[in-house]
Amino acid sequence: MGGGLAEVAARAGCDVVVRSRSQDSADAMLASLDKRLDKLVSKDKLDDDTRNDILGRITATSDLHAVADCDLIIESVVEDLAIKRTLFETLDGVAKPDAILATNTSTLPVVEMAMATLHPHRVCGIHFFNPAPMMSLVEIVRPITADDETIASAVTFAEQCGKDAVVVEDRAGFVVNALLFPYLNNAVRMLEQGTASMDDIDTAMQGGCNFPMGPFALLDLVGLDTSVSILDALYDEFRDPNYAAVPTRRRMVAAGHLGRKTRRGFRTY
Ligand SMILES: NC(=O)c1ccc[n+]([C@@H]2O[C@H](COP(=O)([O-])OP(=O)(O)OC[C@H]3O[C@@H](n4cnc5c(N)ncnc54)[C@H](O)[C@@H]3O)[C@@H](O)[C@H]2O)c1
Repeated sequence: MGGGLAEVAARAGCDVVVRSRSQDSADAMLASLDKRLDKLVSKDKLDDDTRNDILGRITATSDLHAVADCDLIIESVVEDLAIKRTLFETLDGVAKPDAILATNTSTLPVVEMAMATLHPHRVCGIHFFNPAPMMSLVEIVRPITADDETIASAVTFAEQCGKDAVVVEDRAGFVVNALLFPYLNNAVRMLEQGTASMDDIDTAMQGGCNFPMGPFALLDLVGLDTSVSILDALYDEFRDPNYAAVPTRRRMVAAGHLGRKTRRGFRTY
C-alpha cells in the first residue's frame, strides 16, 4: 500500500517522502514504481515527461527525520495496533507542530493512535483502497479527538488526489470493510462446506453481482495476513460471529500462504 500511496500523492503534484525501515526496501519501492510507470509509458497511457515529474517528486529514505517538514504524514505499516501506536508516538516528536498525522489502517481504532501523540486533534484516518492508484474511494476516518480543520484538510487532500472522499466515524471496518469482510469470510466457509468450488464461487460473484473479481481473488489481492487482522479487529469490536475468521485462514497465514505478495494464497501466482 505504501508504494501506491506515494504514487497517488506524487501524481497529484505533492512532494513525497517515502520512509521505510531500510534504505533497501525504500529503494525497492521506488524501483517497482519506476517499472509500473514505464509499463504505462510503453502502453501510451502516460507520457515520458509526466513519468519523470512523478518520480522527481519522490524521495526514498530510511531516515524518519526526513518527514520533519511534511504537512501530512500517512503511515501504512503492518496492521498491528501496538506497532502503529509506537510509530505515532515517535512521529509526534519528529513532525512539525501543525502537521496532520494519518493512518491508512483498514480497521484499527484511530483514536488509540491519536492518543499515543501529544496532539490528538490533528490525527485522523485516510484509508485508501488497494491498488491505491486505481481505486476511486478514500474513507476519511474521524476519531472523536480530531478537530474539524484536520478532517477538512484530509478531505481536500483526498480530492486533490482525484478520489471520492467519504467521512466516516471511527468504528472498526469503517463502511467498506465492515460490509465486505463478512462476505469474504463466508465465502471461505462456503468453500469448506462444499457448496461449490473456489472457481465457481468466484465466477458466481463476478457474474451474479457484477463484481470485478470473486472473493478468493480479492482475498489473495488483499493478503491473507492483512485480512485476518481486519477480521480480528472487527470481531473484537462487534463480537459478531460473521467476523470470526474461519480457522483455515489462520493456518494459511502460519504457512506463509499470504496471497499474491508471497505468490501463494488460495491460488498460486
Ligand atoms: N492490503 C490491502 O488491501 C490494504 C488496503 C487498504 C489499507 N491497508 C492498510 O495498509 C497498511 C499496510 O498494509 P499492507 O497490505 O500494505 O501490508 P504489507 O504487509 O504489504 O506491508 C506492511 C509494511 O509494514 C512494514 N512493517 C512491518 N513491521 C513494521 C514496523 N514494526 N515498523 C515499520 N514498518 C513495519 C513492512 O516492512 C511492510 O513494508 C495496513 O494498515 C492495512 O490495514 C491495506
